[in-house]
Amino acid sequence: MVRTQVIKPRIREILSKELPPELVGMLPKHWVRIGDVLILPLRPELEPYKHRIAEVYAEVLGVKTVLRKGRIGGEFRETNYEILYGSDTVTVHVENGIKYKLDAARIMFSPANVKERVRMAKVAGPGELVVDMFAGIGHLSLPMAVHGKARVIAIEKSPYTFRFLIENIELNRVQDRMTAYNIDNRDFPGENIADRVLMGYVVTTHEFIPKALSIAKDEAVIHYHNTVPERLMPEEPFRTFQRIAREHGYEAEKLNELVIKRYAPGVWHVVVDVRVFKK
Ligand SMILES: C[S@@+](CC[C@H](N)C(=O)[O-])C[C@H]1O[C@@H](n2cnc3c(N)ncnc32)[C@H](O)[C@@H]1O
Repeated sequence: MVRTQVIKPRIREILSKELPPELVGMLPKHWVRIGDVLILPLRPELEPYKHRIAEVYAEVLGVKTVLRKGRIGGEFRETNYEILYGSDTVTVHVENGIKYKLDAARIMFSPANVKERVRMAKVAGPGELVVDMFAGIGHLSLPMAVHGKARVIAIEKSPYTFRFLIENIELNRVQDRMTAYNIDNRDFPGENIADRVLMGYVVTTHEFIPKALSIAKDEAVIHYHNTVPERLMPEEPFRTFQRIAREHGYEAEKLNELVIKRYAPGVWHVVVDVRVFKK
């Protein structure tokens, strides 16, 4: 499981003999573990000792590699985390009975999204066709194929991330019901085919609503994610979705709305489940 923990006494014991006393209190008390890779948030003051600190955390916590937490950005939501200890950043993370293979240094796997990954395992059923427009390594759609037994078409634009998506389909033995395309979802040719569309993206997700509607059947459910400034909530992000849907000849009904995590100061990552109907 991805988890954050309280610092182990053993880590403090070892490092308090090697670090100036004022820095010992700054040692990270929480971290994220993805498979056998650790992601550590490290304050700038600890920079001169970062490799030794990472080594001690790795030994005590039993991981092969330690990365320094950094920013996620760009079209492909890549991480570019600095390697502090070890070299192999590819790992298999098991969550909710699903194997996620990924390069933890480059591909995001957010502990804050765990509830959504688990929720997605329950929403889809065997009779459904799901199209995941922003599949990543299968973060949200593997649970639908594995536990929901739904048929899934997963679209991922980044060639690097796509390699892991393909591997994960095989690792989880869902080749019979999950297929993947390494394309920009705007070039996906399927129209009027999906019972359910996943839009697991942030910042510019609204630009993809017309494409999602064209992929959806005349009646379908769309899981619409986006980032929203707090001052526009709770009307947004549904209001924008509904406006664009109406412009394209669909009515939209909000079924459910959940806050996934804080994205930036005053900005939240939100998901809205929307039922759409062609008018
Ligand atoms: C942030 S990840 C999210 C993964 C997963 N949906 C989730 O919410 O946990 C979004 C993925 O969408 C991919 N992506 C971005 N633009 C895309 C596009 N136009 N077509 C297909 N994939 C795209 C990125 O490369 C990235 O892997």
